[in-house]
Amino acid sequence: MNGDVSHKLPPAAGVPVFDLDLFCDDVLRHPYEVYAQLRAAGPVVYLLRHDCYAFPRYAEVRLALEDHETFISGKGVGLSEFGNKSRLGTPIASDPPHHTLVREIVADRLSLRAIREIAPQIQTKADELIALTLERGVFDGVVDFSRQFPLLVMADLIGLPEDGREHILDWADAGFNLFGPDNERMRNSMTRFPEVVAYIRSLEKPGRLRPGSMGAAIYEAAAQGKLRFEQCGPLMIAYLMAGLDTTINAISASLLLFGSNPDQWDAVRANPKLLPIAFNEAIRLEAPIQNLRRVLSRDFQLENIILPAGASVLMMYGSANRDERKWPDPEHFDVTRNPVGHLALGMGIHNCPGQFLARAETTAVLEGLVKNVSRIEVGAPIWHLNNVIRGLEHLPVKLHR
Ligand code: HEM
Repeated sequence: MNGDVSHKLPPAAGVPVFDLDLFCDDVLRHPYEVYAQLRAAGPVVYLLRHDCYAFPRYAEVRLALEDHETFISGKGVGLSEFGNKSRLGTPIASDPPHHTLVREIVADRLSLRAIREIAPQIQTKADELIALTLERGVFDGVVDFSRQFPLLVMADLIGLPEDGREHILDWADAGFNLFGPDNERMRNSMTRFPEVVAYIRSLEKPGRLRPGSMGAAIYEAAAQGKLRFEQCGPLMIAYLMAGLDTTINAISASLLLFGSNPDQWDAVRANPKLLPIAFNEAIRLEAPIQNLRRVLSRDFQLENIILPAGASVLMMYGSANRDERKWPDPEHFDVTRNPVGHLALGMGIHNCPGQFLARAETTAVLEGLVKNVSRIEVGAPIWHLNNVIRGLEHLPVKLHR
C-alpha cells in the first residue's frame, strides 16, 4: 500500500522489545545514551510504540542501505502515513527504476564538477558572512551564522526569486518533522504543508525561476517528457528542503565541536587541508539526519531471527555512527580520524546527492574562520527538537582573533 506505515504483526521471536518513544523531547535532546542501550541489546530491536524494528548498530544499517532490493524506500522513509504520502515518487521515497530516472534529472547540477564550478560564489558568500561575524565577535552561532548561509546558496542554485523566501527555513524544519511518527510535532508540521505547496505553485509561473537554474531544469525535464508535470512540485520541495537544515546543522555542529575541543581547532589551523575530513567527523558524531525507515520487500534473516516481509525497519544513522564495534573511541571528535564509511550521508543508491555541495558550504565557512580565529569559545548549546533532524536552536559563540 502506498505510504503504508505499519505491518501489524507481532515482533519476530528473539528480538528485544523496547517500550520507549524515540521521538519524545527527552530522547531528542539526549539521544546517545538511549542509542547505546539499543546497540547493547542486539543487532535488531523492536520499538513497540512505533511498531517498527530498528537497526542501532553500524553493520546492519550499512548492510540494509546497500541492499535496496530487500530494504525498499518506495513506501516512504518516514513513520507517518501523511509524511510518506507527501513524498512518494521523489528520489528519497522511490525504488528503481523510477528512482534512477528521477534522481538523474538534476544529478549533473550537484556533481563534484558542478560544485567546483560554483565554489568561488560559495566562498564569496561565506567570506561576507565571516567578515560580519568577525566584526561582531560575540554572536549566536545558529541564528546569526549557520542559518544565514545555506539558504542563500540553495536559493541561488534552485533559482528562487528574492520574494517569498522568509518562511522557507520553517517549512524545511516542518518537512523533516513529517518523517517522524504521527506525534504532535508531526501534526503541527502538517499544517504548514499547504503553504509550501502554494509557494512552489507560485514558482511555476513563467519567469519566476532563474533561467538555467536547477529549478528551471526540473520543469524543463517535464517539458521534455522525462517526468510528469505534477511530479515537478514534489521534486522542487525535495531538493529545497533536503539541502537546508542538514547543512545548517553540519555547520552548527562543527562550531560546537571545535568550540568544545580547542585542540582539534589547533589541529585544523595548523593544517587546513584537514577541514573536509573534519566535516565528515562532525557529521559522524552529530548526524543531521538521525533516523529514516525502510520497508522489507521480503523476509530477511539476521542471525537466527526472521524479520517478516512488510515490516518497517528504522535505519539509525546517528547511532550507527557512534557504534563502538565500528569506531574506536566513538564519542571522541578527532579531525585526523578520517571516518570513511560513516553513514551521515547515507550509503548505497540513496546516498546524499547534495554531499559535495554540503561539504563545500561547510568547509568554506570553516576556512574563513581558520584564517582569522585562534579560538572558538562556545556557551551551553540549546538543542532544537525535530523528529529526525539533530540540530541546534542556539549556540552562544565568542571568537578570539
Ligand atoms: C550535511 C548535509 C547533508 C546531510 C547530512 C544529508 C544527509 C542525507 C542522507 C542521510 C540521505 C540518505 C537518505 C536515505 O538513506 O534514505 C540523503 C539523501 C538526499 N539528500 Fe542529503 N544531506 C545533506 C545535504 C544535502 C543537500 C545540500 C542536498 C541538496 C542540494 C541534499 C539532497 C538530498 C536528496 C535529494 C536526497 C535523496 C536521494 C535519494 O534518495 O536518492 N542533501 N541526504
